[in-house]
Amino acid sequence: MPISLIILAAGQGTRMNSDLPKVLHKVAGAPLLIHAMAAGAALGPERTVIVAGHGAEAVTKAALDFDETATVVVQEEQLGTAHAVAQAAPALSGASGDAIVLYGDTPFIRAETLEAMQEARARHAIVVLGFEARDPGRYGRLITEGESLSRIVEFKDATAEERAITLCNSGVICADAALLADLVSQVGNDNVSGEYYLTDIVELARDRGLSAGIVTCAEAETMGVNTRAQLAEAEATFQARARATALEDGVTLTAPDTVHFAFNTVVGRDAIIGPNVVFGPGVTIESGAEIRAFCHLEGCHVSRGATVGPFARLRTGAELAEDVHIGNFVEIKNSVLDEGVKAGHLTYLGDAHVGAHTNIGAGTITCNYDGVFKHRTEIGRDVFIGSDTMLVAPVRVGDGAMTASGSVVTRDVEAEALAIGRAPQVVKYGFAKKFFDRLREAKAKGAR
Ligand code: UD1
Ligand code: CA
Repeated sequence: MPISLIILAAGQGTRMNSDLPKVLHKVAGAPLLIHAMAAGAALGPERTVIVAGHGAEAVTKAALDFDETATVVVQEEQLGTAHAVAQAAPALSGASGDAIVLYGDTPFIRAETLEAMQEARARHAIVVLGFEARDPGRYGRLITEGESLSRIVEFKDATAEERAITLCNSGVICADAALLADLVSQVGNDNVSGEYYLTDIVELARDRGLSAGIVTCAEAETMGVNTRAQLAEAEATFQARARATALEDGVTLTAPDTVHFAFNTVVGRDAIIGPNVVFGPGVTIESGAEIRAFCHLEGCHVSRGATVGPFARLRTGAELAEDVHIGNFVEIKNSVLDEGVKAGHLTYLGDAHVGAHTNIGAGTITCNYDGVFKHRTEIGRDVFIGSDTMLVAPVRVGDGAMTASGSVVTRDVEAEALAIGRAPQVVKYGFAKKFFDRLREAKAKGAR
């Protein structure tokens, strides 16, 4: 059955105490909204509609960056969850099949849980995702009648007896898209908060003789983020899961608690990740590669057999082929390093291509920026770049060439040539001794 997503993301998130809309605060390098969209995307939705309000412009940009086919509708005033869904209804008109409502501030709902809800739709017109709350607090309570759900009562409107119920509403709801649109249009706001409650559709459906059912999930999945403390908690939860998954997938983590993953980090089997490694978004580490202690990586790809670090930084566009060796205090940005390249120490490679088996000496820098434009450095294969070479881009070094240590290379170097670009050495015999003797004598006489 085709499915569409409605993601509610209009709320301000006052308790975040932030200028940033709540759903754009990040967990594991991705906005909360993107976690929700990614969970829903696993169902292969026909349409995805985001309901934005506070910070709609920024929310729209983030949503479209992740999925350019998504539709964003703006809810000018936040009059309640049913009102929010009603804003999405026109964007779903003509969509066949079901719609599932998710919250943009709830990042951990698993795709499997959503699939279970989709399946339960075979038995019920409306399926609500519930959970047993350790501390039910202010959640809406699910009032059941045998296997089915008779209504949802909001905490504010609940009697003491109803408040004692621990089976709570996560907020995730699945129903036929056209039915959902029809039901939300009938929801009123005659309740303690004066809000249009999405939860009221359960009773409205029952009045039409339709049934509602419940799928339950672990409370941890339904965790919403309302405060900075909860954001930190969500980050910790994400990291704990990512570490456990990596270990299960056959990755060695020497000190798991010190490794930080991003939402989309991919690490192959038998890769080894040392202590204190941080992954920003967009990193792929192939099987058998090793990332040593204290490395920071983002937007990069490390192939089989490569070693990186300790203390290395791989930035966006760093592409390391098989058996590349990157050592300490090396930074690589937007550069492709072919098979077997070595850059062992104290180096910056930016906007460069380095051919296979080339050795980059300690202290090498690609001077890629002239203050206004960025330029490229092309280094061939089997090149020997001497220590402390400054490669002033744009510049090319041909296959099998070498540069002398300390050279400032400003012109292209032909294949198999040697480039020396440094002041010729001058040696003054006996100078050092005479120089220091004079200084020491002056000091002995009281000079300062
Ligand atoms: C809602 C549920 C409650 C459930 C709880 C789970 C209703 C009436 N209540 O309560 O049963 O236990 O979630 O967390 O649905 N939003 C909009 N526009 C609006 C109102 C809300 O986009 O006009 C968005 C919010 O930004 C948020 C989500 O919908 O992401 C839920 O809204 P919120 O006000 O937090 O609902 P609760 O009162 O917590
Ligand atoms: Ca809430």
